[in-house]
Amino acid sequence: MKLTSANINVLIKTCRKAAKTLIRDFGEIEKLQVSVKGPGDFVSNSDKNVEKIIIEELEKARPKYSILSEEIGEIKKDEEFKWIIDPIDGTANFLHGIPHFAISIGLEQNKEIICGIIFDPIKDEMFIAEKGNGAYLNNQRVRVSGRSKLENSIIFTGGPKNNAGDRDLSLNEYIKFSSKAFIPIRKLGSASLDMAYVAAGRCDGFWQRNLNYWDIAAGIVIVKEAGGFVTDFNGNKDYVENKNILVTNSKISEEMIEVLKQ
Ligand code: 2AM
Ligand code: CA
Repeated sequence: MKLTSANINVLIKTCRKAAKTLIRDFGEIEKLQVSVKGPGDFVSNSDKNVEKIIIEELEKARPKYSILSEEIGEIKKDEEFKWIIDPIDGTANFLHGIPHFAISIGLEQNKEIICGIIFDPIKDEMFIAEKGNGAYLNNQRVRVSGRSKLENSIIFTGGPKNNAGDRDLSLNEYIKFSSKAFIPIRKLGSASLDMAYVAAGRCDGFWQRNLNYWDIAAGIVIVKEAGGFVTDFNGNKDYVENKNILVTNSKISEEMIEVLKQ
């Protein structure tokens, strides 16, 4: 089975093209790890190059759509449609030669994400979804897991950054979830892939503070189309505004919200 629509085709073509540069640069990083300076500058250039390729491709295909992207910010055009782009999600993994990062692009129509792609170029895993047409991993339909108890679940989180104002809250949440779930909590370092993994049933629940819209935009439609829930920590819809996100297979939402409230 395959998901094909004009916008999905644009997203796939764009990601495949940008991924070529990303894979080539990732190969260079291993060599740079051993240098004293490290690959820092190289990575920020790589981030910008990948972003440039993505924006060029998207503007070629859809000249009127607006853009919000992590490095360059906003390009305001059409009011109705906007691409939301994270050129490399999981930058720290990329920088350290850890093969777990993704290109993430969502398309917003009148403030709602209607299609999205999260592409892990190293594992060649492409997660795509379109509103009303399901979520797919490499042309196979995916669904969230059926696990209904937090204690049997595998839970992901990310952050906190060392200078985050709510660092202690994050760490406290970690302690609380650790005492509920039998399997130790995972921190894989890419919020977009964390969401994609909930959609694919690999992960049952994911919470994180301080995420930006580009970290989660594509994931929103992919998770929802796979049958999952995307909310804030109270189960409400204000996750873009308040930046705290809870993503679940739908069955463990209430239990996770209870823990976050404690
Ligand atoms: P990035 O790699 O694009 O910076 C790591 O926990 C994951 O969360 C990554 O996907 C990272 O995106 C994202 N992230 C973005 N802003 C963050 C923040 N302020 N604190 C923690 N993680 C953040
Ligand atoms: Ca990101």
